[in-house]
Amino acid sequence: MTSAALPDQMIQAPSNQGTTEGYMPGFGNDFETEALPGALPRGMNSPQKCNYGLYGEQLSGTAFTAERPERSWCYRIRPSVKHSHRYERVALPYWKTAPHIPQDVTSLGQYRWDPIPHSDEGLTWLTGMRTMTTAGDVNTQVGMASHVYLVTQSMQESYFYSADSEMLVVPQEGRLRFATELGIIDVEPQEIAILPRGLVYRVEVLQGPARGFVCENYGQKFDLPGRGPIGANCMANPRDFKAPVAAYEDREVPSTLTVKWCGQFHETRIGQSPLDVVAWHGNYAPYKYDLRTYCPVGAILFDHPDPSIFTVLTAPSGQPGTANIDFVLFRDRWMVAENTFRPPWYHKNIMSELMGNIYGQYDAKPKGFIPGGVSLHNMMLPHGPDKNAFEGASNSNLGPEKLENTMSFMFETRFPQHLTEFAARDAPLQDDYIDCWTSLEKKFDGAPGRK
Ligand SMILES: [Fe+2]
Repeated sequence: MTSAALPDQMIQAPSNQGTTEGYMPGFGNDFETEALPGALPRGMNSPQKCNYGLYGEQLSGTAFTAERPERSWCYRIRPSVKHSHRYERVALPYWKTAPHIPQDVTSLGQYRWDPIPHSDEGLTWLTGMRTMTTAGDVNTQVGMASHVYLVTQSMQESYFYSADSEMLVVPQEGRLRFATELGIIDVEPQEIAILPRGLVYRVEVLQGPARGFVCENYGQKFDLPGRGPIGANCMANPRDFKAPVAAYEDREVPSTLTVKWCGQFHETRIGQSPLDVVAWHGNYAPYKYDLRTYCPVGAILFDHPDPSIFTVLTAPSGQPGTANIDFVLFRDRWMVAENTFRPPWYHKNIMSELMGNIYGQYDAKPKGFIPGGVSLHNMMLPHGPDKNAFEGASNSNLGPEKLENTMSFMFETRFPQHLTEFAARDAPLQDDYIDCWTSLEKKFDGAPGRK
């Protein structure tokens, strides 16, 4: 592991199973890893008897008949059905799921929030999740939700999985450990983690308090974008994605497993840790990615290109070229375009754009969009640079300039995003955000010859 010692009880595969200690490089690779030698069957998936008395079990992330199936074979101390008993509904009132359209909340509007502050309350990954927006419909597996997490406590003998969604985690403050069935992922700000649908995990606080953003993807998994004319290199390179090596714990202690299923939360009581996969192989796995390895491409002569050139990951919808979700990164980079208004242009978009600031200053909004903050520009709502950004970019000397001290992202979806009551009432909404465009002046002068 790169950043912290393992929990005492966890036994991890030896370091020679990954090029980075604890992780195996590559996006969507067919990995294999074992925490005990010979735990993984060779040349077959279902031997009559598995070594060490393990049970073989498949975790299917796609239908069996998918053109490119995504699944992993797990060799575990107990089959998952032993980690599942009778279920009881439990309430997590701040975690909402689409369709969720509060009647007395106005989602239409340009919105921006300050960072949601931490409170004195001890909050875990489950109780600290605060849904800001929902889009689409979990029952038809389209759309997404955006959340801010505020986490101060590790989950104790408590585990979770979401049957509804793949979770994209974007830390902004603090460090978290995801101890999952398939291994351990540690993340800090400027990294992301992806937790596939159905994967059981426990979240521990390595350094707190922890705050960040989550995109809960109800639809098809995130994938690398098609590169087209950009070619085989730059943007997010596959080798920079890291899946964990196998790690398991053999611990018999009363535990709870919470399952998110069709927007409801259900708890089941079990007598052991469900993190008992000793070996696994396959291409359905959690992974992390360091956003600092994203190689941006952009304009080198004139004009501001579409932000799609900054797409790190894309989750397709049924319509080619129209994403269920794009995850887009705005990081430090050089600006060199000539005779060009360089910040993002004024814009109305069929897609709905939720942005978060990881650190620093965003070029189209030098003030007000601060680290930990969120903005929302919903379907077909106009937005663009504020007065200061417009005047600055219209009058600056256009030499090469490096945008530094900046890292923001966007969750962009084809579906309109509906605010939760929490976002509309409890979160620190900036009532004056709309005023950032008020002082933009009419400059038009139709006199002949004027330019
Ligand atoms: Fe936009």
